[in-house]
Amino acid sequence: MAQQIEKVGVLGAGLMGHGIAQVAAQSGYQVVLRELDEATLQKGIAKIEKQLARAVEKGKMDETEAGEVRARIQGTVHYRDLADCDLVIEAITESLPLKLEMWREVDEIVKPGAVFATNTSSLAVIDQAAATSRPQQFVGLHYFNPAQVMKLVEVVRCVTTSEEAFTTALEFARSEHKLAIPTKDKAGFIVNRLLVPYMLDAIRAYEEGVGSVEEIDEAMKAGAGHPMGPLTLADFVGLDTLGSICDVLFEEFRERRFARPPTLRKMLSAGWFGRKSGIGFYDYSGEAPKPNPAF
Ligand SMILES: NC(=O)c1ccc[n+]([C@@H]2O[C@H](COP(=O)([O-])OP(=O)(O)OC[C@H]3O[C@@H](n4cnc5c(N)ncnc54)[C@H](O)[C@@H]3O)[C@@H](O)[C@H]2O)c1
Repeated sequence: MAQQIEKVGVLGAGLMGHGIAQVAAQSGYQVVLRELDEATLQKGIAKIEKQLARAVEKGKMDETEAGEVRARIQGTVHYRDLADCDLVIEAITESLPLKLEMWREVDEIVKPGAVFATNTSSLAVIDQAAATSRPQQFVGLHYFNPAQVMKLVEVVRCVTTSEEAFTTALEFARSEHKLAIPTKDKAGFIVNRLLVPYMLDAIRAYEEGVGSVEEIDEAMKAGAGHPMGPLTLADFVGLDTLGSICDVLFEEFRERRFARPPTLRKMLSAGWFGRKSGIGFYDYSGEAPKPNPAF
């Protein structure tokens, strides 16, 4: 039997967290959105407000409804505001030590019956579950970017997950009108297990001179019917996030196809994280993306 969910805590208001918070609020849940500091929190909330305004402009939502969605989201920088959440979803930086430190705080504060979920793209769910006092109430809820648009949520059961927590998570994702696909706690789950080596291979193809950044992207759009090329997609995911995911996959499987290509490593040293930092394989400082002149 699924547990009743009314209030949802979301940790992190970055690329994924702000979208996860918005989707939950749009589905009628009360949301507490926690960030590290006020400035980052306000940036995340501004993104939600922009998305809601766009939905009103497009006639997908009326103003009253958009106002109600916004009113259901409470921003905070304090863990204590998560205390009475029924479900807590973390979407903080992809780093196990940071996530464990965060769960230690959350576990102490949030009421005993609540279900905890991680949106990690690559870390083992059990490693986070085991660090809490409620490993049986821990699942993976893996949303895709942008969470407001993408239909899929991978619902991950780890070895300790109870049937009740798993059903609760599955029903929660369905209540948000998502396609909830159950999967096992294997690094990368289904989608990243297949997609990450594809993006890394595109970087290697560039390194080997198979094509320019734009040629590789255009070829995959026109030849494989993909909506965006693999290098644009890498910028969109965030090159820092892609780097962290491939490290975890490499660590888990020890296969070359999951290893960081040198170009990615150098881009990260330069602070080029893709769209979120304004530059990656493309330069996003102008109206339309332009190729990064370094390539
Ligand atoms: N980028 C993607 O396409 C994507 C897709 C699915 C899942 N994910 C996963 O989602 C998670 C977040 O990724 P992202 O791309 O949104 O990263 P991001 O860097 O855009 O956002 C992370 C945010 O978490 C905040 N943060 C860090 N520690 C915190 C804490 N203790 N409490 C509250 N906030 C904290 C940071 O300030 C930052 O704003 C990662 O685990 C990632 O693997 C990413």
